[in-house]
Amino acid sequence: MKDPIKCRRKIPFFHDKTESEFRADPYERYHEMVLRQTAIHLADEFWGAYPFQSILDFIRSQIPTKTGLKIAEIGCGVGRMIGELAIQNPNNQYHGIDFSYQMLKQANTFWVEEKKIELDWSDHGFDRVILAGHTLANLHFGLAKAENLPFENDSLDVLFSSFLIDRLEDPLKAFQEMNRVLKTGGTLIFVSPLNFQKKQHWEIFFPLKKLQRQLQIIGFQIDLIKKDWLVFEPLDKNGNKIQWDCIGMKIIRQF
Ligand SMILES: C[S@@+](CC[C@H](N)C(=O)[O-])C[C@H]1O[C@@H](n2cnc3c(N)ncnc32)[C@H](O)[C@@H]1O
Repeated sequence: MKDPIKCRRKIPFFHDKTESEFRADPYERYHEMVLRQTAIHLADEFWGAYPFQSILDFIRSQIPTKTGLKIAEIGCGVGRMIGELAIQNPNNQYHGIDFSYQMLKQANTFWVEEKKIELDWSDHGFDRVILAGHTLANLHFGLAKAENLPFENDSLDVLFSSFLIDRLEDPLKAFQEMNRVLKTGGTLIFVSPLNFQKKQHWEIFFPLKKLQRQLQIIGFQIDLIKKDWLVFEPLDKNGNKIQWDCIGMKIIRQF
C-alpha cells in the first residue's frame, strides 16, 4: 500500500479530501447515511438476520481458498463484509477503502478499535442497541477514491465491492484502476444493481452485454455472472424495504 498523505483520527487519507468534497458527499452525512449503514450492516438484531447475507456469501464463495492473500474491498462503508472475512481468515491481509471519512471512522471504531457503538435508530421504530466491536490486526481502513486506488501495480490478489459501481463518478476509470492494482490472474468480484447515476453511464454500461464488453476491453475475463438476483434493503421496523435487481460478477485480470 502507498503512504498516506495524512491521518485524521486514525484514518489514513490517500486523497486530500477538500471541504467542498466533504460538503458534496452524501455519505458524509452522519445521521442519514452512517446510522443507516450501521443499522443495515451491523445491527442484525433489528432484522433477525444480516439483510445482505446473500451478497457476503456470494463474495466469500468466489474468493480463492489459499492463505497469505491481499484482499481489498472498495466502497466498504462501515466494513461488515471485509470485517467478517478478516475474522474468518487471520492469515490474509485486508484493506477497506471508502471515500467517506465518517463511514471509515465508524468502521475503524467497530472492527479495529473494539469500541462499543451505541445505535439510536428510534426514528425508524427500533429500540436503542449497543453493538460490541472487534479488534482485528489484519484489517486496515483508508480513505481513497475507487478511481485512484492507493495500491501499487500488480499488488492485490482479490478486490471486491458491493453496491458501488453504479454510484461512481467514473466507473470506467475505477475498473481500470482495479485492473491496474490486481495481479495478473487476480480476482475482482462485484455485486450491484445497474442503477447508474448519469445518462452517459447508462449508455456505456447498459444492457449488461455492454458492461461485459467494457470489462473485456480493459483486460478482464468474465468468469461468472449471477443475474436476476433480488436484494432487499430494509428501511424500518414496519418491514418496508427497497428491492434492488442486482448482478454479481466474478472477473479475472487477464492483462
Ligand atoms: C451504497 S454504499 C454501499 C456500502 C456497502 N458496500 C453496501 O454494500 O451497502 C456506497 C459506498 O461507497 C462509497 N463510495 C462512493 N463513491 C466512492 C468512490 N468514488 N470511491 C470509494 N468509495 C466510494 C460511499 O462512501 C459508500 O460508503
